[in-house]
Amino acid sequence: MGKYIIKGGNKLSGEVFVSGAKNAVLPILASTVLNGGICILKNVPMLLDTFVAIDILKDLGCEVSYRENTVVVNSKNMNKTDVKEDLVKKMRSSIIFLGAIISRFKQASISYPGGCNLGKRPIDFHLDAFEKIGIKIEDDKNIIKATVDSIKENIIVLPFASVGATQNIILASIFVKGKIVIKNCAKEPEIIDMVRFLRKMGAKIYGEGTHIITIEGVEKLNDIVEYTIMPDRIEAGTFLCMSAITNGDVTVKGIIPQYLTALLDILNQIGCNIQIYKDSIKIKNKDVLKPIDFLETKPYPYFPTDLQPQIMALLATICGTSIIKENIFEARNKHISELNKLGCNIIEDSATFIINGKNNLYGKNVFAKDLRGGASLIMAGLVAQGETIVQGGCYIDRGYENIDKKLSLLGANIKGLKD
Ligand code: EPZ
Repeated sequence: MGKYIIKGGNKLSGEVFVSGAKNAVLPILASTVLNGGICILKNVPMLLDTFVAIDILKDLGCEVSYRENTVVVNSKNMNKTDVKEDLVKKMRSSIIFLGAIISRFKQASISYPGGCNLGKRPIDFHLDAFEKIGIKIEDDKNIIKATVDSIKENIIVLPFASVGATQNIILASIFVKGKIVIKNCAKEPEIIDMVRFLRKMGAKIYGEGTHIITIEGVEKLNDIVEYTIMPDRIEAGTFLCMSAITNGDVTVKGIIPQYLTALLDILNQIGCNIQIYKDSIKIKNKDVLKPIDFLETKPYPYFPTDLQPQIMALLATICGTSIIKENIFEARNKHISELNKLGCNIIEDSATFIINGKNNLYGKNVFAKDLRGGASLIMAGLVAQGETIVQGGCYIDRGYENIDKKLSLLGANIKGLKD
């Protein structure tokens, strides 16, 4: 969508089902190049980023078809090892294809993905680790050319628990003669999902979800793999925050509640009543919500950076002062100026944000600069007086499938317009 128009004032109520996880399906789509066979993926969120990954696979020579939320990839006739530059520019996480392609073809090339509205987002951890397992990296006028004779055993210690670097090293290690150990690796649930997919493909990987992952090389993978993508914990958390900001009564369904513990602790602390079931969570505000003294983002299992803009919008409507410190992305702050245009009072002190909450926001024309920031602007629009227009809807569509339809079913007055 080009933009979303929201008329504020409606409480959200009812049930909403979340889609498959964007941050699981992207590395899993990259993984489908490994077996030179068929992968049938179910519960795929048909997001803009999913279509970019599909375009990359097709450009590499894979056959890809999809119907509703099922995607079938046949990578048998893949005949290219360089990832198309204009597609990399659309989605920086396409760097994840590097590890998968080099694993199967012993060569790969991709342009530097560059930064985005969250910060520089370098890939040094990826490339340093690749060199430690025998991959030769050349930088040829901003194109990374990677070649290897055979992947070497080693122990990699990541300087930071980087999600993408952890995924890329796992993908590059699948066929190692011997084993590769990754220490201080990321523990995010999306990594667990990718490993589960790779294990169904026949890979030998142990320790996912802990800070040490071991990959024991295999010679061959299964020709046919079927897998269902995990539900999106960030979309689920976004809907929980949307219910709370409207003083609503919403049940978020089809989720894995244990992946949301850090957010649920905060929602409980500020005065939400949370009921947890096997695969759903019901949220209703107990009484007037309270501010939070201090909250900081950290790698899983702590509070996720991908819910920072959303919790900020919620805290910006709760009277009193709350403080958030963003530790993951040095520039995940582009939503603040836009929230302040709607009447919020948020002050930045480098990566610490002081939120002076208030309960009178006014609809305005604002601009999404990234997908989670865009979601926070929709949240504020749900409670702002009058009409809020959130431009840059395409950012939001990168991470949320049919967000206007899902919110309308919960009682919001929102519509998405193509331009
Ligand atoms: C993944 O990004 C997610 N994207 C992000 O979600 C998420 O915010 C992030 O992990 C953290 O959880 C996908 O999975 C597609 P990182 P990634 O490597 O892998 C620095 C969303 O909204 N770093 O864990 O890029 C980096 O600059 C998106 O859905 C290096 O310095 O995140 C950042 O400050 C946004 N060198 C920090 O580490 C490197 O080589 C965390 O990055 C790699 C990363």
